[in-house]
Amino acid sequence: MSLDTIDSLTDELPIQITPYSPTIGGEISGIDLSQPLTDGQVEGIRAALLDRKVLFFRDQNITTEQHLEFARNFGDLEVHPFAPHKDGYPEVLAITHDREHPGQENGWHSDVTWRLQPSLGSILRCIECPPMGGDTLFADMYAAYDGLPEVVREKIEGRMALHDFEGFRVRLRKRGATEAELEEFNKTYPNPEHPVIRSHPETGRKGIYVNAAFTKHIIGMAPEESERLLAILYHQANMPEYQCRFRWAANSIAFWDNRACQHYAASDYWPNNRKVERVTVIGDTPFYRAEGPTTDMDESPFRGRVERQRVAPGPNLFKS
Ligand code: SIN
Repeated sequence: MSLDTIDSLTDELPIQITPYSPTIGGEISGIDLSQPLTDGQVEGIRAALLDRKVLFFRDQNITTEQHLEFARNFGDLEVHPFAPHKDGYPEVLAITHDREHPGQENGWHSDVTWRLQPSLGSILRCIECPPMGGDTLFADMYAAYDGLPEVVREKIEGRMALHDFEGFRVRLRKRGATEAELEEFNKTYPNPEHPVIRSHPETGRKGIYVNAAFTKHIIGMAPEESERLLAILYHQANMPEYQCRFRWAANSIAFWDNRACQHYAASDYWPNNRKVERVTVIGDTPFYRAEGPTTDMDESPFRGRVERQRVAPGPNLFKS
């Protein structure tokens, strides 16, 4: 949506939004998350999230209970089966990095797409941040989709892709999980198939819904072609034109819509500590609908840039 939309949202809603880039990211002010929110404030945050895809809050000195209470305004919360949680709080993912445990969230992804019903949104609170670095970057998957050349869209619209928690399987093995235990996890979390292009259940907008961390391949496509197309789609997240970047401070919070954006935590702060806590709101089953709004912005000269930046070796995909 355009910056005019921000002005009208800011006029209509009981919160203020400062945009971070033309299409993604907005800092919210005029709200205290240690207090229960009014229905109007919740609706305002929801509307702002749909518009901006990721919201930032500063100086929110809240407790873990208040973090959970804020998240519950937006849906049921998940318990992550593989990642460590905060003692006594199964719904709070504790992400702690230091000299012995370097950051590892530096890959573009949308959270838990290896679930049948992946996340609606994640709410991350900074407990301790390094003196410099450890920013989180966000990429707008609607804009990334809108920027694809027609020839690529034609190949992927309506296709499904397989997702898997392979990275966690590797970590579970390192932590001593037996093959029998892993087999139980495989049964409990069978590989889902999600649309390569997802229609957002609330905005109807289409966005890229494959990610380098969890997507394995496009169903029913030759492995080589699947790999080439996935490389193009993954590369879209790297484009600065689709991104915004958040510099953390203690008591900052980011709330992102996993259905509309991907994120990447820069792992540039070793050997310093970085400690954040994430609460994840459960979403619905992803679907694709051919009709629906694309963009409400004017056609951009940037559109189709991927065509000029060859991202994968091999035959020229755009000529076929
Ligand atoms: C995550 O990938 O969910 C965590 C992102 C971050 O630590 O900034």
